[in-house]
Amino acid sequence: MAKRIQFSQHGGPDVLEWVDVEPGDPTDFEVQVENKAIGINYIDTYVRSGLYPSASLPSGLGTEAAGKVIKVGAAVSHFKPGDRVVYAQAPIGAYSEIHNVPQDRLAHLPDAISFEQGAASFLKGLTVHYLLRQTYHVAPGETFLFHAAAGGVGLIACQWAKALGAHLIGTVGSAEKAAIAQRAGAWATINYREENIAERLSALTDGKKVRVVYDSVGKDTWEASLDCLQPRGLMVSFGNASGPVTGIDLAQLNKKGSLYVTRPSLFGYITNRAELELASNELFSMIASGAIKIDVAEKQKFALRDAQQAHIALENRTTQGSSLLIP
Ligand SMILES: NC(=O)c1ccc[n+]([C@@H]2O[C@H](COP(=O)([O-])OP(=O)(O)OC[C@H]3O[C@@H](n4cnc5c(N)ncnc54)[C@H](OP(=O)(O)O)[C@@H]3O)[C@@H](O)[C@H]2O)c1
Repeated sequence: MAKRIQFSQHGGPDVLEWVDVEPGDPTDFEVQVENKAIGINYIDTYVRSGLYPSASLPSGLGTEAAGKVIKVGAAVSHFKPGDRVVYAQAPIGAYSEIHNVPQDRLAHLPDAISFEQGAASFLKGLTVHYLLRQTYHVAPGETFLFHAAAGGVGLIACQWAKALGAHLIGTVGSAEKAAIAQRAGAWATINYREENIAERLSALTDGKKVRVVYDSVGKDTWEASLDCLQPRGLMVSFGNASGPVTGIDLAQLNKKGSLYVTRPSLFGYITNRAELELASNELFSMIASGAIKIDVAEKQKFALRDAQQAHIALENRTTQGSSLLIP
C-alpha cells in the first residue's frame, strides 16, 4: 500500500485528496520508483482545474519526481533496483510515494545532484534547454524578453542566459522578485504590475526591441509581448499562468511586423531516449559546474499530503523558484 494525491472532479486546490493506492507491479518496460522528492509545476494546476482535462477520473497528478528504483519490469535494460533516477515526463500520477515510469522517460541522477535538486530542476531545466537552445538559439550578447523570471522555469532561464552571455530581460510581479531574478542573472527586470512592458523594454533596448519573447503568462501579456518584437521576430507562447490565449487574429501578426508565433511543449522536443539523454546531460553539466544553482526555499518544501497548500501558494504568486512535495 502507498499514499498518493488524486482528484475525482476538476476544480480548485480543495479537490485534491490524500488517498491509499495499491501500486501495481511495473509492466515489462516500466521501472517502479520510490519517490524522494516530487516536482510541482504550474501545468499541474491546469490538469487539476480542467484547463487540460484528464483522460479519466479519479486521476493522479504530476509528472516529475526523483527517487530510487525499487523494481524493474522484465524487459528493462537501463536500470536496476537501487539506482538513483529522475523523471519529468511520466504518465500522470507522480504526486505519489511510489510511481511506475516507462524506462525511456527516466534518467540516472548524477551523485552530485540531490533528489531535491533533481525534482526541482528536471522538467523546468529541460524546458529552458529547448527554449533557449532549440526553439530559438539565443546567442551570446543577445537581448531577449522572458516572462515570470522569478518563477521555477524563470530562475533557471536567468542563470542559463547568464551562462550563455545573453541579456535576459525578465518580467516579475514585485520588487522582491526583481531582486531575486537579478541575483540569478537577469540583465534587467520589468515589474509588470507597475510598468508598461513594451515601453520599458523599448527604453532598455534603445528602441531596438528584441528578436524573441518567451511568454508563459499567456492571456494578460500576449498583446504586450507582440509589441516587444522586432519585425519578423518570434513569439514563443509556452504557458497560460494568467489564462490561455484564444481567438488570435492572424492579421495582428502582419500589422505588428510579419511576426512568427510558436506554441511549444516539452513533449514536442523530447520524444525519445536519445533526445532525453542529450538534453539531460547538458542540464546536469550546467548544474554540476555551478552555472545553475537549484536551491528550494524551506517554506516551499511541502509534505506530499499538503499538496493543496502547495497549489494555493503557487497560484497566489507567493512562490519564487521551484517548489517541492516531499513524500
Ligand atoms: N510548454 C512547456 O513546455 C512548459 C514547460 C514547463 C512550464 N511551462 C509553463 O511555464 C510557466 C512557469 O511554470 P512554473 O511551474 O515554473 O511556474 P512559476 O513560474 O513558478 O509560477 C508561475 C508564475 O507566473 C507568474 N504569473 C503572472 N501572472 C499570473 C497569474 N495571473 N496567475 C498566476 N501566476 C502568474 C507569477 O510570477 P510573478 O508573481 O512574478 O508574476 C507566478 O509565480 C507556466 O505557465 C507553465 O505552464 C511550459
